[in-house]
Amino acid sequence: MIISAPNQTRQGEHRVALTPDAVRSLVSDGHTVHVEQSAGTAAGYPDEAYVEAGAKIVDNPWTADVIAVVEPPTPDDRAHIRVGAIIVGLLRPLDEPGGIAQLAKTGATSLAFETLPRITRAQSMDALSSQATAVGYQAVIEATSRLPRFLPMLTTAAGTIRPAKALILGAGVAGLQAIATARRLGAVVSAFDVRSAAAEQVESLGAKFIEAVTTPQDASTAGGYAKELAADEQATVVANLAPHVIDSDLVISTAQIPGRQAPLLITADTVHGMRPGAVIVDTAAATGGNCALTKPGETVVVDGITIVGDLDLASRVAGDASQMYARNVTTLLKLALETSPINLEDEVLAGCAVTHGGKITNERVRAMLEEA
Ligand code: NAI
Repeated sequence: MIISAPNQTRQGEHRVALTPDAVRSLVSDGHTVHVEQSAGTAAGYPDEAYVEAGAKIVDNPWTADVIAVVEPPTPDDRAHIRVGAIIVGLLRPLDEPGGIAQLAKTGATSLAFETLPRITRAQSMDALSSQATAVGYQAVIEATSRLPRFLPMLTTAAGTIRPAKALILGAGVAGLQAIATARRLGAVVSAFDVRSAAAEQVESLGAKFIEAVTTPQDASTAGGYAKELAADEQATVVANLAPHVIDSDLVISTAQIPGRQAPLLITADTVHGMRPGAVIVDTAAATGGNCALTKPGETVVVDGITIVGDLDLASRVAGDASQMYARNVTTLLKLALETSPINLEDEVLAGCAVTHGGKITNERVRAMLEEA
């Protein structure tokens, strides 16, 4: 099989789907690997490293048998994809179902990490988790670099500095990594999530869990994701969180509900109540944001409070984010290429397949398109 990795930097994306280590592993399995020129340069993997690993540098990676991407292909890219090809990546099936309809028309089998079942067997393929880890880490770094304060307590001859107070909203994969990172830097950390299972995980990282729901309840689905709260429950959460937000120096918000608008957790009034110099990094900006004043892709300053709506947090740690992503890609590809044709009876492959044989194979994507 010819397996390729395109250069995605034209979309401002610095990650790459295959690293030289991933190339080595695929070549040793007997595959030929094509990497588009400069595909890994922005992530710290120059073309020479790919050649050394056994890849060929090419101008057009889109005609390969298998294409590994970070971003969904553009219309121009799609025009080159061959019938029967396999494309694997973060294809945004629930955010951009129209793109999946276009991919189906190419006749390719599209494997989207967003619909990978989160079961034990698939953990090493779970790109949502690996990239959320990068997002949670980088969110704290972005907040810290804008905060006019130290994070740790410092006792010096020039006086004692109190530690910064960090609040993490949403304690899933990104939130837990944000907690761990803020703790490592010395902040005093508290966190909130609507899933009761998150409390123990938050506390095991040395942070305080905030009870912001009056009636303790578990808003988890069977898959471990959060359910959307009823309007009155959501209003209670927002009101109960407000004093905690106001008392924080940095807030990292990561609350998401797959395929839906992100829940609003921080109102404009709450932001106005915060101390000047405080920073909010809203990692849910792409799906509407957890803060009412977030502008996706922008950083705004309101009354001295900085609100960061960056959409490329994982891409800013592109080297390590790509290394984890490439491991997810190769593990999934090895499973997909075990049989020819691909075995869509397999629970993992069936879960991620969003197009096959010219059709959309994911029911939720189909329903979203019908609704639209
Ligand atoms: P996510 O990115 O969809 O959401 C992030 C967090 O926001 C979640 O923890 C969610 O509970 C929280 N949230 C949603 N609405 C909220 C609200 N109104 N207020 C506060 N928080 C809210 O979720 P992510 O990080 O992808 O994973 C969530 C969970 O999925 C994990 O904690 C775990 O239970 C499960 N999971 C299982 C895996 C496995 O078994 N292989 C791998 C990764 C995650």
